[in-house]
Amino acid sequence: MHAGMNIAVTKPLLLRCFVISVLISIPFLIFFLNLVSPQVTITTTNKDLRMRRGYSSYDAYIQRQLNKTLNPHLRKIWTTRDWNRKIHVFASFFLQLKENNLLSNASKALCIGARVGQEVEALRRIGVSDSIGIDLVPYPPLVLQADFHKQPFHNATFDFEFSNVFDHALYPERFVSEIERTLKPNGVCVLHVALSRPADKFSANDLYSVDPLVALFKNSSLLHVRPVDGFGLDTQVAFRKNLLPPPRTSR
Ligand SMILES: *[C@@H]1O[C@H](CO)[C@@H](O)[C@H](O)[C@H]1NC(C)=O
Ligand SMILES: *[C@@H]1O[C@H](CO)[C@@H](O)[C@H](O)[C@H]1NC(C)=O
Ligand SMILES: *[C@@H]1O[C@H](CO)[C@@H](O)[C@H](O)[C@H]1NC(C)=O
Ligand SMILES: *[C@@H]1O[C@H](CO)[C@@H](O)[C@H](O)[C@H]1NC(C)=O
Repeated sequence: MHAGMNIAVTKPLLLRCFVISVLISIPFLIFFLNLVSPQVTITTTNKDLRMRRGYSSYDAYIQRQLNKTLNPHLRKIWTTRDWNRKIHVFASFFLQLKENNLLSNASKALCIGARVGQEVEALRRIGVSDSIGIDLVPYPPLVLQADFHKQPFHNATFDFEFSNVFDHALYPERFVSEIERTLKPNGVCVLHVALSRPADKFSANDLYSVDPLVALFKNSSLLHVRPVDGFGLDTQVAFRKNLLPPPRTSR
């Protein structure tokens, strides 16, 4: 009789302990689930730049990017149906940048991740004749073969660099430091990025604000952030490379 009563008393107590311990562990569970979720925050920038999982190595990444760039169906569309329409839209973006004095006919210009070079053709048509593109697959005479993580140009080569493939960078720090390295002092970099939704299934990273870009462009100043309607990309971000090295912090 006594024993039975004891059990009746301890059962709710055990249950209560169990419920409390579950409640206590919820924050840890959430933390753990964040760690194993498919998107992982890289440590060098803030939470608004997330690297996608699924690239086991640099080679796997290159193979996947080549798969899209070499897709014969896509290449055909890019060079036929898309050709004039895209050149027209790119030209309107660049003409606006000309009006803002961020670009001129005399600018030496680079388009990064240019595929078949519609943006390069657009620059040439509006009078920026010294323009070239780079991508993993060449498309002469508009696009040279190069990896934007390791640009094949000397320091301080370009007055203007444009890219709408920041989301394809496996190493965003390298993507940006190579731009800053090859821009002349006072040179301008304009990026089109997607902030409100994932760019595409070939993306290597997702950006949720411009803060990580501002942090990555260590040797440049932010010029403007504007909405843009750029083939699925919604934001134009412009930087100008600094004239002088940033002041050294004394030790
Ligand atoms: C590239 O595409 C082909 C077929 O289009 C596919 O079989 C292959 O697995 C793809 N490779 C990668 C690395 O995605
Ligand atoms: C720039 O080039 C375009 C196209 O060739 C030309 O129409 C325009 O007048 C040039 N602008 C300047 C300021 O020379
Ligand atoms: C080019 O720029 C990089 C980064 O700013 C610097 O480390 C390197 O020494 C420079 N190279 C030359 C040849 O000036
Ligand atoms: C920033 O750019 C200037 C001008 O090209 C250069 O002298 C300086 O070394 C750069 N600083 C860094 C940290 O790259």
